[in-house]
Amino acid sequence: MAQINPSILSADFARLAEEAEAVRGSDWLHVDVMDNHFVPNLTLGIPVVESLARATDIPLDCHLMIEDPDRWAPQYVEAGAGSVTFHVEAAAAPVRLAREIRAKGARASMALKPGTPIEPYEDLLPELDMLLIMTVEPGFGGQAFLDIMLPKIRRTRELIAKHDLELWLQVDGGVSASTIERCAEAGADVFVAGSAVYGAEDPAEAVRRLRDLADKAGADAWWACEH
Ligand code: DX5
Ligand code: ZN
Repeated sequence: MAQINPSILSADFARLAEEAEAVRGSDWLHVDVMDNHFVPNLTLGIPVVESLARATDIPLDCHLMIEDPDRWAPQYVEAGAGSVTFHVEAAAAPVRLAREIRAKGARASMALKPGTPIEPYEDLLPELDMLLIMTVEPGFGGQAFLDIMLPKIRRTRELIAKHDLELWLQVDGGVSASTIERCAEAGADVFVAGSAVYGAEDPAEAVRRLRDLADKAGADAWWACEH
């Protein structure tokens, strides 16, 4: 079944606990951490993640768009994140880092910017619980979905099948009711949506609608039929 992770980047940062409550029924809450170095934007850090983890039952999916994740990512596990995603472009030692995140008790995930290919990382995939393929340049919500990422999603799904991995494939950026089916057909099974959820009149209903669209498209997809 498809998982929908609303991104609080599009929520009201002064009311995060209520905004988490507004998407009750979501699988994860996607928390975008930006340091104004890896991306040209600044959001929140460890103290906010700690407070949010106490304020909601929804597990936190922390997406770290920061330099030096080798140093910082483990602290997000300690802060209460259930899943921690680092960018491979920023990591000095991705295998060591993924192992450390897992050893501390969270799911380990690695993200690729649009210009980063998946192929060099084929052998590293068993070290991960999730791979994030960015479908916009990271840094801002509300950008247009990059259709040119669909072949990369498909090739990654092929690698997951080839190695028979229990690896979740997440997409993030421009995911909405008009793009989610394409992502699911190509092979994604975890979907981040910011503006499409928090821009909707009823965010919880938007989550259900997105999940429904993804489930239907995923059920008929080439990669789901092989299972
Ligand atoms: C962008 C962030 C996304 C962002 C997505 O760098 O990683 O999680 O919130 O926002 P939408 O869904 O509006 O593109
Ligand atoms: Zn994100």
